[in-house]
Amino acid sequence: MRLLGIETSCDETAVALVELSTEGPPRLCHSLISSQTQLHERWGGVVPEIATREHLRNLPLLTRQLLAETSLTPESLDGIAVTSGPGLPTALLVGTSYAKGLAAALGKPIYGINHLEGHLFSPFLDGKVSIEFPFVGLIVSGGHTLLVSVEGWNCYRKLGGTVDDAAGEAFDKVARLLGLPYPGGPQIEKLARAGNPKAYDFPQSFPERDNFNFSFSGLKTSVRYFLDAHPEVKANAPLLAGVSASFQEAVVEVLVKKAIRATRSVKAKSLIAAGGVVCNGELRKKLQAECETFGIQLRLAEATHCTDNAAMIASIAAEKLRAGCLTEFHRDFNPNESLFG
Ligand code: KG4
Ligand code: ZN
Repeated sequence: MRLLGIETSCDETAVALVELSTEGPPRLCHSLISSQTQLHERWGGVVPEIATREHLRNLPLLTRQLLAETSLTPESLDGIAVTSGPGLPTALLVGTSYAKGLAAALGKPIYGINHLEGHLFSPFLDGKVSIEFPFVGLIVSGGHTLLVSVEGWNCYRKLGGTVDDAAGEAFDKVARLLGLPYPGGPQIEKLARAGNPKAYDFPQSFPERDNFNFSFSGLKTSVRYFLDAHPEVKANAPLLAGVSASFQEAVVEVLVKKAIRATRSVKAKSLIAAGGVVCNGELRKKLQAECETFGIQLRLAEATHCTDNAAMIASIAAEKLRAGCLTEFHRDFNPNESLFG
């Protein structure tokens, strides 16, 4: 069985092809991503109108390219999996409309996949390790910061989440304050390599023991006040590196601390981490070290699968079909679709 995956929830147009046989996990055959980062960069963030226009232009082209590069015809597809939410409304509209049109024309089934569910299972999509429930999932991206207890298919319980900005959003906003281009995460990580993470003591959010929530807007504000009081920082490379490293440390420490605590509190054997911010080397290193200390099995999404992609959408659809717990998509997309039913 061959499934086409489509992802258009934000500023990446992505398609992927996954094959599912009677035995073994789904096999990822091909994955293409058209990133719009450069188009949004001059605006300092994602502009929904631009994203939508780009999806409209690129989705048919990418799908054709995917089929050409895998020597397949549209008729050889057995189903289509598409991100149904959460995300930008008009961006989701393009992806789901295209998927519905294609499915109707081919007479093939269509499946809706929650974008966060895609991220949650993205560490498993290369087939190297199999999915074993229960586990705890840390999703950290530009739009979300969530800790989830994953107890089975469609059985997800929220342990905590951000009460204001997402971690990636904080990286992007602080990068902007520092005069760095969008997206800010990779820029801050690069600068931070030359800086001392203990140079400045920026506040961590909600460090209390039993709380799995996050807050990053206070941290961002404290960096802003600091920069207002020290205007010389932006033009001074060593100072800029120190601020970047200290900010990164504050975000990473709280993410790691809470993810470990959450995993231990529900007595899960493994922790997975996914989403754009998991590209961050410091976060990966600290998660690894802490998981080793506490005997927790860590599954990190490959860096190429951390940011938005369609491979995670097609793969999770195939896994759920294999498990017999995916029904056809007969509703509309939902920009606020929850992972928790
Ligand atoms: O998952 P993603 O591609 O999109 C959303 O679904 O939001 O994540 C994008 C976010 C951006 O905020 C970006 O700054 C952040 O991930 N990011 C990083 C790094 N690479 C991307 N944050 C910290 N360090 C990085 N290396
Ligand atoms: Zn995402």
